[in-house]
Amino acid sequence: MPSPKILLTGASGNYGGKVLQFLLKKMEACEIAALARDPKSLAAQAEHGVVIRHGDYTNYESLVSAFTGIETLLLVSAEAFTDRQTQEANAIRAAKAAGVKHILYTSIQKKPGTTDKIPMVTETNDNSEAAIHDSGMQYTILRNSLYAEAISKFIGDIYLDTGIIAMPGGTGRAALASSSDMAEGTANLLLRNQTESATYTIGSSEAFSMTDVASLLSEIHSKKIEYVRISPEEFIEAGSAKGAPKHVLEFVAAWLMAIERGEFSEVTKDLENILGRKPESIRDVLNQT
Ligand SMILES: NC(=O)c1ccc[n+]([C@@H]2O[C@H](COP(=O)([O-])OP(=O)(O)OC[C@H]3O[C@@H](n4cnc5c(N)ncnc54)[C@H](OP(=O)(O)O)[C@@H]3O)[C@@H](O)[C@H]2O)c1
Repeated sequence: MPSPKILLTGASGNYGGKVLQFLLKKMEACEIAALARDPKSLAAQAEHGVVIRHGDYTNYESLVSAFTGIETLLLVSAEAFTDRQTQEANAIRAAKAAGVKHILYTSIQKKPGTTDKIPMVTETNDNSEAAIHDSGMQYTILRNSLYAEAISKFIGDIYLDTGIIAMPGGTGRAALASSSDMAEGTANLLLRNQTESATYTIGSSEAFSMTDVASLLSEIHSKKIEYVRISPEEFIEAGSAKGAPKHVLEFVAAWLMAIERGEFSEVTKDLENILGRKPESIRDVLNQT
């Protein structure tokens, strides 16, 4: 049986897991390898025939061994609240050392020319993009928007009682795509046998504001819901009073402030073109979550 030429990292998680599901519709399971820190996390996929390779972003040697024989690697960015920079640098160096020809990397969308950074996110993504450019490997950089479904998580459901969504975001507009559409797009790119490097801005085909979200939720729930802009400090204070962990509230506030600054406002047709259809709208996503 030929050994797989494509390897996915993060396949036990949300994004990589969805990429794997889309790939399995078009490829034999034995043609796909997936990296796992703990092979038990991918036991069902292994049962299905996916080739599981042990590896950990914190262990360079394990990555070189896992990536050996792989031509195309999907590197799903490392988790926040960890030493993401070192982990991603290990993975990029290991890919190069193992002879990977093409690396796809999940980066983050930014407003063109911005110097603002989302703490624990943008700097690592920027440095990893630079390391990939310097590596000489062919690459596909996926500058992913914030997942659209994160908006529902950030909002919670208290607005159903109060009729008010109070958070930062202001008049900032954001073209957020669902992680499902982003993953399908990534699978399409993995299937394309790409021979050139490219950088895509992966978002939806239309931008919305928090006020738009409030009106859509008003329609969905047949109830008047209003958006009120509050500062990040007020947001963190209000969440802390309800018992949410401060570091999580700070992280969420940073994403919302990135929306407010317009970091996700650029509308491109990159994802639409890669999918060959319009990405899900924010209305679709709010209806599902
Ligand atoms: N654009 C956005 O809105 C957004 C939102 C959230 C996250 N992200 C970024 O996108 C990435 C994927 O998002 P997600 O929603 O799929 O996250 P997720 O569900 O938490 O999945 C993270 C994946 O990374 C793997 N992983 C974590 N640490 C690892 C390590 N040291 N070595 C090897 N694999 C490791 C996990 O494997 P295990 O099973 O071993 O834990 C899991 O498969 C995140 O890590 C983050 O960088 C982006």
